[in-house]
Amino acid sequence: MAIRKILTQGDPVLNKICHPVTKFDDKLADLLDDLRETLDNAKGVGLAAPQVGILRRAVIVVPDPETEEMIELVNPEIVAQEGEEDGWEGCLSLPGMWGRVKRPKWVKVRAQDRQGNWFETEGAELAARCFCHELDHLDGHMYDEHTDRLYTSEEVDAMMTEEESESHKGRRRRR
Ligand code: NI
Repeated sequence: MAIRKILTQGDPVLNKICHPVTKFDDKLADLLDDLRETLDNAKGVGLAAPQVGILRRAVIVVPDPETEEMIELVNPEIVAQEGEEDGWEGCLSLPGMWGRVKRPKWVKVRAQDRQGNWFETEGAELAARCFCHELDHLDGHMYDEHTDRLYTSEEVDAMMTEEESESHKGRRRRR
């Protein structure tokens, strides 16, 4: 396993459409292991293969930051969604910045695991946001396309009362 370099906005790789994964081999396992280690090291809640320069449809998400459990999604697709929710979003490829983005309140995702077996998973609120954000990366999209403006961490903190800031600290994690 190795920690890979996370590309930041401006790198053209982040705006490319990723290819489906067709081989469920050791190379894919290595990529997923590296994504896990890179995400853990960056203390984020999601990471997509293009963020480390690999144009393949593979992402890691942490649907519940409390448990920190990582889910691997290969060739993921959103197959159902409900509702809408406005919330803060950040990205490891846009360090230090935050934006308000509208996402579905609930989504169901169909994906393959590292052996190629199809499965379904679902998530609400933060988890739904995380799934949508990561899947966007696979089509070359960044969250700043869905928001009017970006804020620095200091601006976000200044906009919240101290109490709100405490309760939101854990929620404002980058993907
Ligand atoms: Ni991101």
